[in-house]
This record gives sequence, C-alpha cells and structure tokens, in this order.
Amino acid sequence: MSFSIRATTFDDAAAVAAVHRATASIPGGIARRPEEITDAYIARILEAALADGVGLVAVDVGGAVIGEIHAVRIPVKLFSHVLSDLTVAVHPDWRGRGVGSALFQALFSAARAMDPPIVRVELNAGAGNAGALRLYERLGFRIEGRLEKRGRFPDGTFEDDIAMGLIL
Ligand SMILES: CC(C)(COP(=O)(O)OP(=O)(O)OC[C@H]1O[C@@H](n2cnc3c(N)ncnc32)[C@H](O)[C@@H]1OP(=O)(O)O)[C@@H](O)C(=O)NCCC(=O)NCCS
Repeated sequence: MSFSIRATTFDDAAAVAAVHRATASIPGGIARRPEEITDAYIARILEAALADGVGLVAVDVGGAVIGEIHAVRIPVKLFSHVLSDLTVAVHPDWRGRGVGSALFQALFSAARAMDPPIVRVELNAGAGNAGALRLYERLGFRIEGRLEKRGRFPDGTFEDDIAMGLIL
C-alpha cells in the first residue's frame, strides 16, 4: 500500500484545505464549492473533530496529504453515541485506489474506541453521487431516507440527499 492513515493535527490545516479544494473543483462530490472552503471553515471542522470526534488524513509515502475524513459526536446526551457531520474527500489523482475505504475503516475503529464509544455513524450523500453511494453501501451503510430537493445547483436544478446510517 502506497499510503497510510494517521490522526489529523492542526498543522495539517493547509494540506486538508488543498485536498478539499481539489475535490470541490469537480462538481457532484462534496457539497461545498471551492470558494466556500475557507481557512476558517477548515479550522472549524478540525477543531470540532479533534475536540470530540474523529479526524484522519491519508498520506502518501512522502507524507503529503491525499485524503481526509472527519465527523463529530452529536453534543446532545440523547444522541451522544452518534457520530455525525461526516465529510470525506480524496484527491482526484488518488481516487479508486482504496484510500476512501481505508479512511472509513480507520474512522470506524477510532469511533469504537471513543469514550463513550460510538454506536452509530451517519451521513448524507447527493442522490446523483452514485459512486459514493455504492462505496458507502459496500462499507455497510444502509439507506434510511431521502431528503427531497435538499441541494440546489448553480443552474437552479435540485438534487435529493440520501440519508445513510451504519451501526458499528
Ligand atoms: C467518494 C470518495 C471519498 C471515495 O474515495 P476513493 O479513494 O475513490 O474510494 P475507494 O478507492 O476506497 O473505493 C472506490 C469506490 O469509491 C467510489 N467512488 C466514488 N467516486 C469515485 C471516483 N471519482 N473515482 C473512483 N471511485 C469512486 C466507487 O464506489 C468506487 O467503487 P467502484 O470501483 O466499485 O466503482 C472519493 O471518490 C471522493 O473524494 N469523491 C469526491 C468527493 C465526494 O464525493 N465525497 C463524498 C460526499 S458524500
């Protein structure tokens, strides 16, 4: 394997931002557009994930960040076994080589080891993101619902979101 997974640190912020911007430059993947991936946004997600969640990066043999995943525990007692707000991005040059799957498997391990442990992981994916939906089902996520017209593209067309959940 020509990459490895490790915990994210605040020093990774610029590299994580670069991967998210490269990912966002191809429409139909992550929700944000490149201009919405500000340094403040990246600082906020890393802070939340490192405070009470999971933040992981995939790095190549030279140590360059090629992928990122993060999610946070819901800060409400009733839902405190749930890891939510999940986003994953793999640099376009690295897609289809197992990086996304490895990031998810490492996230599941880290989530089980949290105190108290996570029992449920949830995410939303655009209904048009067939590749991501296929990957998530292969990883064990189940489709739980459809959020109609949740997304609206720049041309005004809408896209439903698919709600998915996985019990660890
Ligand atoms: C979705 C994503 C994280 C998967 O990471 P990955 O490293 O390519 O995934 P893996 O190599 O572990 O698994 C490959 C599977 O991912 C899925 N996939 C989704 N988009 C893909 C892409 N552009 N290229 C290759 N595989 C993709 C497919 O199901 C593929 O399986 P297949 O070969 O049976 O078609 C990555 O493609 C990505 O960053 N996409 C853009 C951002 C995005 O869609 N994020 C999710 C928003 S909900």
